[in-house]
Amino acid sequence: MQRKILVTSALPYANGSIHLGHLVEYIQTDIWVRFQKMRGNECHYICADDAHGTPIMLRAESQGITPAELIANVKQEHETDFADFNIAFDNFHSTHSDENKALASQIYLANKKAGHITTRTISQAYDPEKEMFLPDRFIRGECPKCGAADQYGDNCEACGATYEPTDLKNPVSAISGATPITKDSEHHFFTLGDFEESLKTWTRGGHLQSEVSHKLDEWFEGGLRDWDISRDAPYFGFEIPDAPNKFFYVWLDAPIGYLASFKNYCDRTGVDFDEYMNVDSTTEMVHFIGKDIIYFHALFWPAMLQGAGFRLPNSIFAHGFLTVDGKKMSKSRGTFIKARTYLDHLNPEYLRYYYAAKLSSGIDDIDLNLEDFQSRINSDLVGKVVNIASRCAGFIKKRFDGKLSSSLSEPALFDDFVAQADAIAEKMENREFGHAMREIMALADKANQYIDEMKPWALAKEEGKDKQVHDICTMGINLFRVLVAYLKPVLPETVSQAEAFLNIEPMQWSDIGSPLLSHEINKFKPLMTRIESDKITAILDDSKESMQAEKAVAPKKAASSDIEDIADEISFDDFAKIDLRIAKIANAEHVEGAKKLLKLTLDIGNGEKQVFAGIKSAYEPEDLIGKLTVMVANLAPRKMRFGLSEGMVLAAGPGGKDLFILNPDDGATPGMRVK
Ligand code: 2FM
Ligand code: ZN
Repeated sequence: MQRKILVTSALPYANGSIHLGHLVEYIQTDIWVRFQKMRGNECHYICADDAHGTPIMLRAESQGITPAELIANVKQEHETDFADFNIAFDNFHSTHSDENKALASQIYLANKKAGHITTRTISQAYDPEKEMFLPDRFIRGECPKCGAADQYGDNCEACGATYEPTDLKNPVSAISGATPITKDSEHHFFTLGDFEESLKTWTRGGHLQSEVSHKLDEWFEGGLRDWDISRDAPYFGFEIPDAPNKFFYVWLDAPIGYLASFKNYCDRTGVDFDEYMNVDSTTEMVHFIGKDIIYFHALFWPAMLQGAGFRLPNSIFAHGFLTVDGKKMSKSRGTFIKARTYLDHLNPEYLRYYYAAKLSSGIDDIDLNLEDFQSRINSDLVGKVVNIASRCAGFIKKRFDGKLSSSLSEPALFDDFVAQADAIAEKMENREFGHAMREIMALADKANQYIDEMKPWALAKEEGKDKQVHDICTMGINLFRVLVAYLKPVLPETVSQAEAFLNIEPMQWSDIGSPLLSHEINKFKPLMTRIESDKITAILDDSKESMQAEKAVAPKKAASSDIEDIADEISFDDFAKIDLRIAKIANAEHVEGAKKLLKLTLDIGNGEKQVFAGIKSAYEPEDLIGKLTVMVANLAPRKMRFGLSEGMVLAAGPGGKDLFILNPDDGATPGMRVK
């Protein structure tokens, strides 16, 4: 029976670029959706940008544009990045949309009518200069427990303590630097506790992974607290219908954004929105998310839906985070890799395959080991799969006018391949992609063994062996066809090229068992090439370059689970090792091929050093010549793509055009020590 499935991935925030950490989820979901479609199910893959909230409002302000402009720019960037990774959303919308405003109001008002909204006055930190309430992340101060300086308002990165922002010693606003005051304001709360019993039943009802249900049990034990769903102006979001100057907290309207994007899609395509939303709908609603946002999706979201009389999700599939070479993505190591930086150098399908090979149905983190990535792609995709076609295609084209023979010489081997279809489908359905990839590669090994044993290249040199060569190569091509059919959800672009080579219509899962016989194929063009090490080095270098240029942006950003924000603490002795010198910029020039870097020649009194600095967005080279700056003079030289960089110059500012190279007083002499 054909299933009808609405599938979502978490909505990315509209204030930053997509990086390889995000892509774990979009690739996982896209593979699952493509698999469902190939199985003949009606499946709609829906997403949107998550466009509201304080960080977006402040980011727009720092760029001197309106939030609406910022989110429009980011949406365009996100959509291009996703499309280039072959993530095929059926709809990509925004939470800042008419549909979302209407649905958020509807869901809120229905919950209010049912008695699930309450109000009360709370005291919060307020920035008197900026005239706004401060989210915890925007307050900094000394840890009340260990005294570490410059900690967030809710937790200490030095000792791990968690606390209330009011506990911080000497707090300051990260926005204006002012000392926050405490101010009262009336807030709206969603009374989550009303749903305790039904949530307990629902969370144990097979909609969640078992490890996730267990985690929820702990949360139930801790008690379900009212959820603060309102924020005071100024706030970029939707005003609460019956509460002027109060806005929905971004997390209220974010998941509703799934439905809003789907509504937008239904209006555009004629799909029946109500059929999917109906409380006893037989359609499925499935959310893919990261493990950090389970609370929102497995408690708040079903409760809100239930309170408003909407259907509940069928499944919430959580995944783990991405590590690169066993560690959190790191800006300094260059492993904080943006989607675009990767795409500048490598085929997106390599990453899709690698993630597929690593993914399971669980919530463990997955590691992108760059060396393993390179060797897996080279051995599995290039060495095994593509190789089968390239070993057989030439003979068929040259000797048999591109036509396959009329029967399979080894039907049993072909049947073996086809017999795996159900087992592989089951793994794909259950998101055991890693298992599925291993089974597919075991079949690829078998196909290569078959060709190795049959040696068509040797037979081709013998008289009267034409038919055998024809049959062997026809077998090879047919085995290749089954393999690429299995891989199609993972490698859509490559398999589409393989379909063109095989001269066939786009394959469905149900086509797998029918061999291609007496069929003309096209000329074979290499479908993939090996990954050379210099590509990976270039990705790391470009990532370092792009991060250097962005380093000065924003005081301290709200932490995201995949991102390493602050380097490890160093001792005073470590600090004392840094040799800071006044340097005169003797020369500055553009670097061919570098988007963010300028090449500086620095005079430090006793010689010159060459430094690549990420300040191109702020300075024309000629404006820098003759200026004094401060440089880290004893940084070990680093080989970059453009040459050797022998230090660092210090700059500050929010980024873009406002990036100021530190400009010491004219009294300073090149070479002078700064400390
Ligand atoms: O954590 C995040 O990146 C959020 N922007 C995810 C929102 S998912 C959904 F609820 F909208
Ligand atoms: Zn501390």
